[in-house]
Amino acid sequence: MNEYLRCAHAAVDLLARYASDSRDGVGPVTSRPDPDALAAELELGRWIRQGGMDETAFAAWLPRYLGATVRLHHPGSLAHQVAAPSDGAALADLIHGVTNNPMAKYEMGAGAAVVEREVVSWMLDKVGFGADAGGGVLTHGGSIANLTALLAARARVAPDAWVAGVPSDLALLAPRSVHYSIKRAAAILGLGEQAVIELESDDLERVRPDRLHSALGRCVQAGRRPLALVATAPATSTGLHDDLRPIAEFCATHGIWLHVDAAHGGSALLSAHDRKLLDGIEDADSVIWDAHKMLRTSALCAAVLVARESDLPAAFRQEASYMFDDRETVGFDLVDRALETTKAALGTKLFLSLAWAGEHGLGEYVSSRYELTRRFYDGLCEEPGITCPYVPESNILCFRVDGHDQLDLREQVLDGGQLHISSTTIDGRQYLRLVVTAPTTSDDTVGQLIEALREARGRTAVIRTPRPAPAAARRSS
Ligand SMILES: Cc1ncc(COP(=O)(O)O)c(C=O)c1O
Repeated sequence: MNEYLRCAHAAVDLLARYASDSRDGVGPVTSRPDPDALAAELELGRWIRQGGMDETAFAAWLPRYLGATVRLHHPGSLAHQVAAPSDGAALADLIHGVTNNPMAKYEMGAGAAVVEREVVSWMLDKVGFGADAGGGVLTHGGSIANLTALLAARARVAPDAWVAGVPSDLALLAPRSVHYSIKRAAAILGLGEQAVIELESDDLERVRPDRLHSALGRCVQAGRRPLALVATAPATSTGLHDDLRPIAEFCATHGIWLHVDAAHGGSALLSAHDRKLLDGIEDADSVIWDAHKMLRTSALCAAVLVARESDLPAAFRQEASYMFDDRETVGFDLVDRALETTKAALGTKLFLSLAWAGEHGLGEYVSSRYELTRRFYDGLCEEPGITCPYVPESNILCFRVDGHDQLDLREQVLDGGQLHISSTTIDGRQYLRLVVTAPTTSDDTVGQLIEALREARGRTAVIRTPRPAPAAARRSS
């Protein structure tokens, strides 16, 4: 056996034990050592400068690295929108790590290219665009997918922008709750953040379809043309969905490009119970959908999908003789529709995740996490002094512990080592936040969280004059 094989076997053994221990709740769920102490512990300086790592040193080093990870397979992993990768998806990373076929050009990776084409077609069917009419490409993450979709929208409204620069009268209609990558895209696209005109929202930051005309009125009054209107399914902070059907009708009536950021919630299209949350998505012009959130692939694997196939190539008007030519040849290239030139074999992760669980299995997984989040809601609402401002629609849930600093409480919970939770603000107010993603998280975890919050409350100072809760929070308490 050569050294690579022996090291790979050692890595697979250690990683399999790591995942299995994590699933059993062994080990702290998250680790936050001092960065300099960690760099020293991992002997990074020495290895970088001297090299020479061999099988024995590697087998000693990897467990120390794993000790400084967030254990996403752990039942107490409740903080962020990242998947505990399925076994199939994890194997895809191993395959890519060895074969390294960047496949945006067919001749550079036929297998990976065909796999990507097929999973994108499958996603187009699920969204309702249809694989024949629609088009899409996988990107390295939802932020790039959002940027690509808005670039396509820009090409529709201002076809000369690629060559002549961006007209100064373009605007983006989007709610305040929109993911920051949308505003970042507005800046990158040359519109500037000031060109984002805010849609009116309710107390829980959902778009108010009955107030869309007011945003359009403000846009026209400012002498601007809407480039696109962005809706979210669901919002990153709350996990609540914008009502896509009336929003799509408004956009169709006014000829506005509708972009749906379904980075998180697109996967609910596979759930018989929850796909109704995305009703109307099929009438969008573009959609993004991250497989690395709820389809159990490792980061990164996101899709940008458009209703009309030609809209993606229209977004890019590039010439480069070493990548683009008109000669008829076998296969197809993706370089005319992707922001990235060198693109990893992203489709293989999603394909192998699907190949293991099937679309039905992944749909059941999504339903089960959404349903369990409703049980977190029930459990937390029964606890005196805890307020959940809404019934969760997805696997994201926010809550507050009255009379305490939420961030202090979070620190206490994290210090316990068995639960990882996050925080956010809604309408300017601080909340604790759960994202129920790990397949091993169960009803036992609900009890564990409540117990941890009781203990944390005992250790953090009581705030004597809490601010009044917003109307929506009071209603459900
Ligand atoms: C709604 C939404 N859109 C876009 C993104 C950005 O996706 P990525 O982190 O893959 O770039 C996120 C990430 O959390 C998100 O929640």
